Amino acid sequence: MKTLVLAVIFAAACGETTLFDPMERQPKFKPFSANAFYDDGRAMRVPPAGTVPRERLTDRPEIAQGKDRDGHDVTVIPIPVTSELMSLGRKKFDIHCAACHGLLGDGVSPVAAKMSLRPPPSLLLLHNDSVGHFFEVISQGYGLMPSYAAELDAQDRWAVVLYLRALRRSQAVALAEVPADIQKQLREEPR
Ligand code: HEC
Repeated sequence: MKTLVLAVIFAAACGETTLFDPMERQPKFKPFSANAFYDDGRAMRVPPAGTVPRERLTDRPEIAQGKDRDGHDVTVIPIPVTSELMSLGRKKFDIHCAACHGLLGDGVSPVAAKMSLRPPPSLLLLHNDSVGHFFEVISQGYGLMPSYAAELDAQDRWAVVLYLRALRRSQAVALAEVPADIQKQLREEPR
């Protein structure tokens, strides 16, 4: 008897029986199917007027594409620059870019060391280093590099661009420009 009870439970768990109503078989309308409940007879509904996708930040091309209305790369980050944006950028850069471009963005990484055909370059000294260009590369990919639009929404991409600015600055800053307490810390660091 015990075996029979167990067998019934396992069979139910696999969704192979009609003893219980498995969730995947609940009544539902598939895309493009008919539904007499609505006047237009369609199951698919039209979003209310003025609805925008949550992922779309804005229609402003500076923010959405990194280009001004004449199609030129923007040279200033077009969203408010905050320390939260910087931390977000660091997090996303370390996750999505550092494996190839290096934690410092200088192109020193295990991937670069093994790539003979156009390895990931240093991002600190690029020919075109406008923020709009960086944004576009992340959005659309560049040569051998794929697009990261699926992983990073527009805000994440601007955050990464901002962090890249900080990385570049961090590699070329005079000791005298660093806050006094950090200067002290740096002087004490073994070389
Ligand atoms: C899988 C490895 C890989 C990852 C991950 C990667 N890149 Fe790249 N990236 C490359 C390679 C390779 C190139 C050079 C492509 C070429 O010249 O064909 C490149 C080129 C670039 C360029 C240079 C464009 C120019 O003007 O020369 C920028 C900017 C850039 N990547 C930024 C990023 C950022 C930001 C991220 C993270 C969102 C990222 N990359 C993630 C491999 C990668």
